Amino acid sequence: MSSVAAENAKTVENLLAAFEGESNANAKYTAFAAKADAEGWHGAASLLRAAARAEQIHAANHARVIQQLGGEAKCEIHAVAVKGTLENLKTALAGEQYEIDTMYPGFLAEATERKNNAAIRTFTGALEAEKTHARLYGEAIALVAAGKKDAWVGAARPFYVCPVCGYTSETPEEHDRCPVCNCPWDRFETIQ
Ligand SMILES: [Fe+2]
Ligand SMILES: [Fe+2]
Repeated sequence: MSSVAAENAKTVENLLAAFEGESNANAKYTAFAAKADAEGWHGAASLLRAAARAEQIHAANHARVIQQLGGEAKCEIHAVAVKGTLENLKTALAGEQYEIDTMYPGFLAEATERKNNAAIRTFTGALEAEKTHARLYGEAIALVAAGKKDAWVGAARPFYVCPVCGYTSETPEEHDRCPVCNCPWDRFETIQ
């Protein structure tokens, strides 16, 4: 049973929608990574796995705030439609773009109006991390579309994921600290 205060109802509804989106993105990217490996796009598979881990971090962060506000973090995981890797990457990028352009800005505006700092923090971390995914997916799409198996998309490679906010980088030591949440870079997870 939910014990969400009336003034937090909309914020919790938004957090639940974000929790569902991130949980399903995690499932989708995990399935897309397996397909990319099967097609020999092992570097694209590495990226999809790193992004999947980041979405899991976002979902866990949102869930924590939902629970703090008296809600229950539950959602439905939908069956994933897996196509070829180029199509899958385009689907992934479209999802990120929706979150960056529409979903998170709207949710952030509502949380800001409510002065809910915990919600603002979890939405901001996710929004900024999704921008790193959109950039990397864009690069991967161009290389896969051109059939460049000799580029980074063709060979398994490490990506670095902030364990706090999910910021994702292709560079081992881009900064001393996460540029989004200030987490020390040496705590980043290496995902391949
Ligand atoms: Fe993402
Ligand atoms: Fe971070």
